[in-house]
Amino acid sequence: MTHMERPADLQPDRLVDADIYDLPGMERGFHDAWKRLQDANPDIVWTDRNEGHWIALRGELVAEILADHERFSSRIIILPRSAGEEHSGLIPTTIDPPEHRWYRKQLNENLSLKFVRELEPDIRALAGELIDGFVADGETEFIASYSAILPIRIFLQLIDLPQDDAPRLKYLTDMMTNPGSEMTMAEARDEMAAYLLPVVTRRMETPGGDMISRMVGRPFEGRSMTAEEALVLTLQVLVAGMDTVVNFLGFAMLHLARDGDMRARLAADPDLAPRAVAELFRRYGSVTIARLVREDMDYHGIRLRAGDLVACPTVVHGLDERENDDPLRVDIDRARPRHSAFGQGAHRCPGQELARSEVAITLQEWLRRIPDFQVANADVLRQAGGINAHIDRLVLQWPAP
Ligand code: HEM
Repeated sequence: MTHMERPADLQPDRLVDADIYDLPGMERGFHDAWKRLQDANPDIVWTDRNEGHWIALRGELVAEILADHERFSSRIIILPRSAGEEHSGLIPTTIDPPEHRWYRKQLNENLSLKFVRELEPDIRALAGELIDGFVADGETEFIASYSAILPIRIFLQLIDLPQDDAPRLKYLTDMMTNPGSEMTMAEARDEMAAYLLPVVTRRMETPGGDMISRMVGRPFEGRSMTAEEALVLTLQVLVAGMDTVVNFLGFAMLHLARDGDMRARLAADPDLAPRAVAELFRRYGSVTIARLVREDMDYHGIRLRAGDLVACPTVVHGLDERENDDPLRVDIDRARPRHSAFGQGAHRCPGQELARSEVAITLQEWLRRIPDFQVANADVLRQAGGINAHIDRLVLQWPAP
């Protein structure tokens, strides 16, 4: 069954008419649109849109559902259900513990802080090189000239693939997350798999020092990864690691362009960047995933049925005043920003150290060259919801040197 019937016993105040990917006003402000939905409704609500599902609207619930794999499965994490079913069988994203652990331990080891620290000089060099390329112009469209390039080139370096392949791989990952008229999700996945299979096979035969080799080139806890497993895992890391940082950088820079105090503090003291990044991730959560209810249960005042899907918009956790005082305010000095921007529990993002580092280095290298700047296309700036929210075009302007 694709469309889930509205529960017969649904209390009227639990029903909302909300398309989670296109809430009213989202194009002008993704996060504000979610905040309005949160403020106006009970903690968990039902919508008939996107084939019918629940939406958790409070931080406590989002965190609990994402972390509780005993009651909420990751077998389907994408809404609507029909798209989620197409996306099942992904390693490690749609596997539940305990099977999930073996893959995840290897990913954790290979994306650990140690590897991120080793990459940092290269991230910094590339950030500087990109900004130097347009600083004299006094203006740039940030998404195309910077954020769509840096995380992808760094990721290709991590897995040792040719930098020239970046545009095609970016295109294919876009088609896998936002399939369009040019290509279906399955076609994009097949082309990506055809590209990756010989790479993975070569690394199994003659491992190098890159991340794929480290995972497939040696047995782990008594067993080796098969080529098929390695292929699916690599593909998943590629898709998860590409668009997320690209999109988040847009929100971070939009904020910085509008917050003169933060710009001044960070420009004067670049060591504050990691704190600023922690707070920006709290304020600008951007990923929306779901969980599949395993069994009938009473849950925070509602009756969940086995097979129901619950959307967990990570954005609503950081913006919940029950979790963070004055949540719309970005405050570098906030003692403990609470959020779920990187998920919770077993599936919590293994790439978060890399993501944090890329954003912190971007703030530092940008402000070192461009301490003051503003948004030039504020009137037409368009934000879009999705599994991964983003800004279409962000034109930034500064006094040319
Ligand atoms: C702004 C940056 C990022 C954000 C906001 C983000 C967010 C998330 C979230 C919310 C999840 C949990 C999904 C779930 O519970 O179902 C996740 C998982 C994951 N992320 Fe990230 N991510 C980011 C960057 C990255 C990067 C840079 C990589 C890889 C280099 C990466 C690789 C992954 C993988 C492989 C998973 C699946 C983990 C599992 O299922 O155990 N992410 N991410």
